[in-house]
Amino acid sequence: MIPSAMMTGPQKITTPHDMDEAAVVEHMRHLKAEFGKKLVILGHHYQRREIVELADFRGDSLELCRAAANQDDAEIIIFCGVRFMVESARILARPRQRVYHPNARAGCPMADMANAPLVEKAWRDLEQRGLHGSTIPVTYMNSDADLKAFTGRNGGIVCTSSNATKVFEWAFARGERIIFYPDEHLGRNVANSMGIESLIYDPREPLGGLTEDEFRNAKVLLWKGFCHVHTHFTTAHIDEAREKWPDVYVMSHPECTQEVIGASDFAGSTSQMCRKVAEAPAGATFAIGTEINMIHRLAFEHADKNVHTLSRSLCPNMYRVNLYNLYDTVRDLENAPQVILPDDVMRDGKLALDRMLAINL
Ligand code: 13P
Ligand code: SF4
Repeated sequence: MIPSAMMTGPQKITTPHDMDEAAVVEHMRHLKAEFGKKLVILGHHYQRREIVELADFRGDSLELCRAAANQDDAEIIIFCGVRFMVESARILARPRQRVYHPNARAGCPMADMANAPLVEKAWRDLEQRGLHGSTIPVTYMNSDADLKAFTGRNGGIVCTSSNATKVFEWAFARGERIIFYPDEHLGRNVANSMGIESLIYDPREPLGGLTEDEFRNAKVLLWKGFCHVHTHFTTAHIDEAREKWPDVYVMSHPECTQEVIGASDFAGSTSQMCRKVAEAPAGATFAIGTEINMIHRLAFEHADKNVHTLSRSLCPNMYRVNLYNLYDTVRDLENAPQVILPDDVMRDGKLALDRMLAINL
């Protein structure tokens, strides 16, 4: 797919990957000291440990969005994460600030499962039945910038895994139904927790594969999309963990299936899970269903606790950002490609993001 963020700037010479990692970290620390407050590095929890350790802010996607929106002193924002996060930072940063992504190829396959033309087709299904006026479009943060713009233009809002319930409440205060894209699992898990029935809308089928009555009466239409990193986890993994560690506390990300969420002790965003581990007493045992880099780092940082993964699952796109492409970006900013979005996408995407940021958690 074609990234909705356009990149500018010539190709540059890259750091050889056999260069000693410790030396690159040392160079990075010098560069950061030289830039001072002018440079801010944001790092998502799924990033490699060496990246998170160099970041000025680490967090879940909501926290990093807020951080991008609040960097008054910065001239340069480098986002270590995947494309939808970087685009959101571009939309929320000051226009004078330059935003960079160390690897433009780091996308999100789940975000690619919905796009503006496909969602516009679903919206036309609603319009033809006079239902669009009472429908609130809600897009997960994990979506392209032009889809956030479509959502903003049509009175909708963005949500993340940490505020999705509040966002659904916001939407139901303004409309009778929600169309939610692109993650069916997060949408279903939130609807379940609110006691609201949801139905799958499959964009490849006429009317989403629903009957006329089902489509008209649905309270939550769920786009058929998923994250392969999280649908990997099963209840069998949880059963195994409980058998192995009888005192285990099982946590999973809400992108997991409803069965996995139902069998877990806690479901929450990456930061919410990190906080649970940080606040637990020494000796506590956790089994976690989310991306492996975060779990390895938690185990390393909390060596007095027992932190396990439910099963190894890596996000290859998060992994595409590494020490070397981060260093290449920082040491040669003039030639590094900046993230630039069309004006209308910036304007309408900001509507949907600002509505989300205005909700107090
Ligand atoms: P969080 O918002 O919980 O950090 O999740 C982001 C993500 O991409 C999960 O797959
Ligand atoms: Fe996308 Fe899943 Fe990777 Fe998150 S973990 S960035 S949803 S592919």
